[in-house]
Amino acid sequence: MSAAKITVAKKAIGHIEKKLDRNMVLGIGTGSTVNFFIEELAKFKNLFKGAVSSSEASTKLLQDIGIEVFNLNDVNEVSYYIDGADEVSPENFLIKGGGGAHTREKIVAAASTSFICIVDSSKLVDQLGLFPLPIEVIPESRSMVARKIIELGGLPEYRSGFITDQGNQIIDVKNLIIKDPKELESYLNNIPGVVENGIFSFNKPDLVLTET
Ligand code: A5P
Repeated sequence: MSAAKITVAKKAIGHIEKKLDRNMVLGIGTGSTVNFFIEELAKFKNLFKGAVSSSEASTKLLQDIGIEVFNLNDVNEVSYYIDGADEVSPENFLIKGGGGAHTREKIVAAASTSFICIVDSSKLVDQLGLFPLPIEVIPESRSMVARKIIELGGLPEYRSGFITDQGNQIIDVKNLIIKDPKELESYLNNIPGVVENGIFSFNKPDLVLTET
C-alpha cells in the first residue's frame, strides 16, 4: 500500500512541478498519502512561496521541512490543493475525514483553483458509503445529531477519544446508502450542530490520480 501511495505522490509532483512559481501558494491536505507528497515536495520548496495547511499534523510536517505555512485568511490565491480521500466515486465525489480533518480540508479545497486528489486504487468505489461517513459535530449536539442519523437509517458511532483541530467531536456513520451525494451532503450539513460532513460533492476534485 505504501508503494502505491508513494507512486501517486510522485505523480502529483510531476503534475505541478513545471507550474510552480515563487508567488504560488499550495493547499496541502492530511493523511498518509499526503505525508508522502510532503516528503517529495521538500525537494522543490524553493520554487514556490509556501502552503496553506488543512491540519495541525500537516502544518508540523511542512514546517519541519522548511515550507512556510500561511493562514488561509492571509492568502489571495491557492493554486493547487493536493489531498487524499477515503473513497472516490466514478463521478469523483469523495468521502473524506478518516483522519478527522475534513472540515478544514473542504475549506481549503473550496478556496483553491484546482483540487488534485491522490489515492491508491483501493479507494475507487462504484458507490460511496462503505467507508463510514465522518461528521464533525459541536460536542453538545452529538446525541441529537446521532438520533437524526438513525432516523435516516444510518448507524452512528462516536469516535471516542478524538478531538478535531477545531475542538469538536466526530461521529462515524455506517450503513448509509449514498445514492445522491449532493442531497445527503446538504441534508446533513443542515442539521443544527453539524459543523461539516465528509462528503465532497460540491467541492469535488478536478483531477484524481492513482498509482496505475
Ligand atoms: C483526513 O481527514 C482524510 O480526509 C484523508 O484525506 C483521508 O483519510 C486519506 O488518508 P490516507 O491518505 O491516509 O488514506
